[in-house]
Amino acid sequence: MPVLPIAGGILFSVLIGVWYTSAVWLYTRDTPAAAASAPATVVIPANAHAADGKSVFVNDACATCHTLKAAGASGQIGPNLDDLHPGYAQVKAKVESGGRGMPSFAQKLTEQEIRDVAAFVATSSGSP
Ligand code: HEC
Repeated sequence: MPVLPIAGGILFSVLIGVWYTSAVWLYTRDTPAAAASAPATVVIPANAHAADGKSVFVNDACATCHTLKAAGASGQIGPNLDDLHPGYAQVKAKVESGGRGMPSFAQKLTEQEIRDVAAFVATSSGSP
């Protein structure tokens, strides 16, 4: 009776199955490390010009409320942006929606001006 070879064949198939499913699991799962680091790699888009953002900051009232050394601004109503170090996306979101004492600039500035001022604040306060 060929019991041993059959049992061996079944065991072999099971092992192959385990190996295959774990390989599928390994290569299809989301890598948490990659997902978690994604927001940190958000960079300033190429169409945002920090150099142009300075005049937006100074001329469009950001300076009245905020302190930011690079703009020569010493406003005291909003948070000190040198201390806060906001990132590009954070500044852009705040300028667009405002809130809690800060006006929204969605109607006052063009999208280009908002990108520029966000790039300016993010780079000149030392945070990408
Ligand atoms: C009338 C005063 C005023 C003006 C003008 C103003 N801000 Fe603000 N800003 C504030 C206040 C008050 C806060 C705090 C709001 C809060 O705690 O959410 C703030 C918060 C912020 C923050 C922090 C957002 C965060 O996530 O904590 C950023 C960045 C910012 N302002 C950028 C700007 C820029 C850029 C401009 C010009 C386009 C501007 N602000 C104009 C008053 C102002």
